[in-house]
Amino acid sequence: MPALSQRATVIQPSPTLLLDSEAKTMKAQGLDVVNLSIGEPDFPTPTHIGQAAIEAIKAGFTKYTATEGILPLREAIAEKFKKDNNLDYGPANIVVSAGGKHALYNAFQCLCQPGDEVIIPSPYWVTYPAQAILAGAQPVFAPMDPERLVLTPEGLKSVLSPRSKVLVINSPSNPTGGLFSPEDLAKLAPIIKKANLWVISDDIYESLVYDDAPFANLAMVAPELKDQVVIAHGVSKSYSMTGWRVGYLAAPLAVAQAATKLQSQMTSNVASLAQKAALAALTESQEPVAQMRAAFNERRLKVLALLKDFPQWTTPQPQGAFYVFPNISSLLGQTLGDVLIQDSNDLAQVLLRKTWVATVPGSAFGSPNHLRFSYAASLEDLERGLGRIRDFLTHKPFSLGS
Ligand SMILES: Cc1ncc(COP(=O)(O)O)c(C=O)c1O
Repeated sequence: MPALSQRATVIQPSPTLLLDSEAKTMKAQGLDVVNLSIGEPDFPTPTHIGQAAIEAIKAGFTKYTATEGILPLREAIAEKFKKDNNLDYGPANIVVSAGGKHALYNAFQCLCQPGDEVIIPSPYWVTYPAQAILAGAQPVFAPMDPERLVLTPEGLKSVLSPRSKVLVINSPSNPTGGLFSPEDLAKLAPIIKKANLWVISDDIYESLVYDDAPFANLAMVAPELKDQVVIAHGVSKSYSMTGWRVGYLAAPLAVAQAATKLQSQMTSNVASLAQKAALAALTESQEPVAQMRAAFNERRLKVLALLKDFPQWTTPQPQGAFYVFPNISSLLGQTLGDVLIQDSNDLAQVLLRKTWVATVPGSAFGSPNHLRFSYAASLEDLERGLGRIRDFLTHKPFSLGS
């Protein structure tokens, strides 16, 4: 067989999906797996959103649309930015793509080229380095403050180079749940300005912020930098619409036009029905968003309370998204279930096999001493899952399954 391209071989499949698929296989075998690995709201998509897609089918709205998305949807997205973020974008600044991931892909492809460096605060979501590499650029990891879970000016300066082209900011963050305050962003602004960086602001978890903390992105905090900011966003997490595949970016006109051109040769428009569903999500009742946020907050507090039974783990209090990211380094070097735990990868494997609880090793996010728990799971599952792990780690008997 002739060789595959280097591009096809250099990228690894998403490790978060690999563990999830192992957990699903075990579940399919009838094992009572508690899945705390997946980054997906467990609520159904609100009924009125699905109804909008049904209406669209009935109305025969089933043909190609404009590559960048239907105008009413782009207007609704522009309106969302005005209402929620006090940011002025017109529909021409908006490109609708197949999920937040595709919006990010477009951004990386339009902003980076070989020789460029992309600064990624670490721990990071797995897709950023992969997409930087796919755009020919070199990912460079900037350490975040381990307690506050944000990038500090010192952390940013420590990795700046003449080749720095893009800085990625993801707040609230996957995997840490960390949230940048307006002040955190304001402190980075002069450095970003001086280095003339693009900023890709991944705001996908915007609606999931707790403790009355304000959400902010760089364009809101430093309006003079708005033309250097590309916001990647989408409806997946806020409206429990992961399968609909609707994301979008808001960007300076030149970037939006480039992204549209690129997308026109790759995927064309997002499914017409999904666009109608997203339009309903953004323009109709926002009550489901508030309800889901309240449910996630209850779970967050539950997980943090349960993690108090793990005194040897340090768990920074997450302020957003639906993840907790404890530091498990106290277990390194121990033997658990016949396995020498050398990093969180070993731990996640042992936990899945011995307690049937799926988590994601921090090594997937560049942080091998941490483990990611998603609390996008029922309170009951959180209690069962963390209870099993606690009993396993303290050598107490526990039951696997009902
Ligand atoms: C930080 C972050 N950005 C973007 C995405 C992509 O979301 P979507 O499902 O809309 O592609 C995810 C999904 O897990 C995410 O965690």
